[in-house]
Amino acid sequence: MKKHLLKMLDLSKDNILEILNLADQMKYDLKNGISHRVLEGKTLAMIFQKSSTRTRVSFETGMYQLGGQALFLSDKDLQIGRGEPIEDTARVLGRYVNGIMIRTFEQEEVEALAEWSGVPVINGLTDFAHPCQVLADLMTIREQHSVLEGLKMTYIGDGNNMANSLIVGALKCGMKISVATPKGYEPHPDVLAFAKDFSTDFELTTDPSLSVIHSDVVVTDVWASMGQEGEAQKRVKDFAGFQINDNLMQAANKKAIVLHCLPAHRGEEITAEIFEKHADVIFDEAENRLHAQKAVMALLMAE
Ligand code: CP
Ligand code: NVA
Repeated sequence: MKKHLLKMLDLSKDNILEILNLADQMKYDLKNGISHRVLEGKTLAMIFQKSSTRTRVSFETGMYQLGGQALFLSDKDLQIGRGEPIEDTARVLGRYVNGIMIRTFEQEEVEALAEWSGVPVINGLTDFAHPCQVLADLMTIREQHSVLEGLKMTYIGDGNNMANSLIVGALKCGMKISVATPKGYEPHPDVLAFAKDFSTDFELTTDPSLSVIHSDVVVTDVWASMGQEGEAQKRVKDFAGFQINDNLMQAANKKAIVLHCLPAHRGEEITAEIFEKHADVIFDEAENRLHAQKAVMALLMAE
């Protein structure tokens, strides 16, 4: 395992499978009363510069279940919010805690934290990447379809942090992935450069109905991410036709699952009908954040 979890691009297939296998074990053991107190006496600092329900609660609970404690630090309280450089914050926190999780805007900030803190850093979402969510997504897909290799994933919507991370995670695990975005909303150039080497397994299109054909896993995310609220109205217009609805799902495989990292905007990227039809798996996906992140923390932070 690597020293940090900053983005899917940094992980090998073996790294990903190691996390997923331990996550499965963590889930089984939690449900069977077997505890893993491998982080006894350890502290995780959690820096949040954006809102969160799942990430905050799953990291805090996960840390507690592993025998350690988590500190919730919002930018309203930290000196970061008043302009203290990330390099100084990193060097200070590194003297107190055993790991840092950060949710922020710039990927560079997370990379700097990793460079300067001297302790493992976990990306809890940036504008570029959401690796913790994608690990939970891969775990959920494997639970539902038993394998990853050879499956086809379709991502419909904004070429955002989720799209970037899903493309890399899926391709590294031997899946095919088709991504449908409106023109001008394509995934990050670094991710497209990575995907170029997987020519037959990767497709980028502006046609959702083409993208979804024979898909085993259909994924979407909000059209306006955190920090883009001012563009929400424009995006609703630009993303017309990029909704996961019953009509679109007809072209997917019969046993296709639908994933959404949440929060979901019913009536925008997904209809209420499709959301509720697939709700059991979507909430398994949310639950799996806990198990996947416990695996990540155990691998990065235990002795
Ligand atoms: N999916 C996800 O990261 O949710 P939160 O924003 O609630 O943490
Ligand atoms: N793309 C979304 C994901 C939220 C978990 C955002 O960044 O707001």
